[in-house]
Amino acid sequence: MLFAAPKIPRVAAARVERALIELDRAVGQSKLVLDETARRVYAEDDSQSEACMPDVVVVAESKDDVAAVLRIAEAHEVPVTPRAGGSGRTGGAVPVAGGIVLATHALNQVVEIDRENLTAVVQPGVVLGTFHSLVEGENLFYAPDPNSAELCMIGGNVAENAGGPRAFKYGSTRDHVLGLEAVFMGGRTMRVGKRTVKGVTGYDVTALLVGSEGTLGVFTEITLRLFPKPSQVATLLALYTDVRAAGASVSRLIAAGLVPRCIEMMDAATLGAVRAAGNAIDERAGAMLLIEVDGEDAEAQLERLGNALGDAQGTLDLVVAQDSAQRARLWAARKSLSYATRKMATHKIAEDVVVPRSRIGALLEKTEAIGAREKVRHLTYGHAGDGNLHVNFLWDTPDEEPRVARAVESLMRETVALGGTLSGEHGVGLAKAPYLEFEQSADLIALQKDVKRVFDPKGLLNPGKIFPTGHKGC
Ligand code: MLT
Ligand code: ZN
Repeated sequence: MLFAAPKIPRVAAARVERALIELDRAVGQSKLVLDETARRVYAEDDSQSEACMPDVVVVAESKDDVAAVLRIAEAHEVPVTPRAGGSGRTGGAVPVAGGIVLATHALNQVVEIDRENLTAVVQPGVVLGTFHSLVEGENLFYAPDPNSAELCMIGGNVAENAGGPRAFKYGSTRDHVLGLEAVFMGGRTMRVGKRTVKGVTGYDVTALLVGSEGTLGVFTEITLRLFPKPSQVATLLALYTDVRAAGASVSRLIAAGLVPRCIEMMDAATLGAVRAAGNAIDERAGAMLLIEVDGEDAEAQLERLGNALGDAQGTLDLVVAQDSAQRARLWAARKSLSYATRKMATHKIAEDVVVPRSRIGALLEKTEAIGAREKVRHLTYGHAGDGNLHVNFLWDTPDEEPRVARAVESLMRETVALGGTLSGEHGVGLAKAPYLEFEQSADLIALQKDVKRVFDPKGLLNPGKIFPTGHKGC
């Protein structure tokens, strides 16, 4: 296990027993999962994090259920780990002190789509891909698009401030959340934010809650901003001899004032996985960019893109997708990367570091050096337009883990040294908590812990996440 659970004592059995009696009374036996095999499913997410088995899972079916759980948990001092789709990459939904997992996937209604005001209200368990299809069917558009869209749920996206390829033009989830209904420890329910696109009253509590990784409150309704669906979309594939040439092209594009909705990059090792998955890609290519533009002037943007990229050194080929089927095939290959690259080793860890775009080349060089020094296989792909790269380390046997752990730590240090940040979209969770102090001052971490205490004085909501606690199994 690459990341052991943090040093948090398991909740005492007597407290759990008292809470269980009240939970049974408040939400009903049918919503409590007690069977060990079933509980195990709710103790994992899509990371390598070690869990401390929850004593009970409550499958909330209403806001009242959520409020009851947080009221009872506070009264009996039982930790609560909120969970939506469980597709997170950093252990955000993994319980580390036992207690209650509060599952919100059954709160899965799209409450409202307001065409006139371009807003939607959803519950946290709505699957993102389902929501995309629904709004696009009405000629509307919700921009955030993490690649796990077919599995991930909007509650989790909001908790982690998820991104995705389109964040380059449209921003991450936070930029699309206008307001929230949230329940806090003790069961207090509040509406924060607004339903309007503008609004500056008071502190921006919505922005604070978005990306708080389930440590401040649990969302029961989310008000989202929509856009009209772009009338045209065009996709271009650019093949390069190596990542250096691809990186230089990203800089050229941005310097030319072009704002595609996505600029995705894949290095040579990643292209190997794409080929192995059955996609024919020119064997000379050592890097690829997948670029997409949208809007009424998509064709004109495409032409400007061609001019900006055209004869740059190291360019092998520029191919425009001819129709929506070809576009879909290109994106299917990109979206499957996370899973395709898993086949290259028994284990992998996908980081999501961000550097200033001008330092992408430097980050790739540092990664190369780290991989060589620690003798750890690696590959990199990701959202180059944002400087947000998924550096993946791969390994097969447990004896390689210390080297992988050193490689991850070195990557975090180098990222910060290049002026970057540890996470662009997956969050800190458990996986990056030990490195937070590389990036943030002790004062800033203390300030955030003070904020956490205001919302959750007993430290019961999603303990062990974000802030460094030291490592030890439960
Ligand atoms: C992606 O961009 O594919 C996702 O963030 C998942 C990942 O690679 O870790
Ligand atoms: Zn990503």
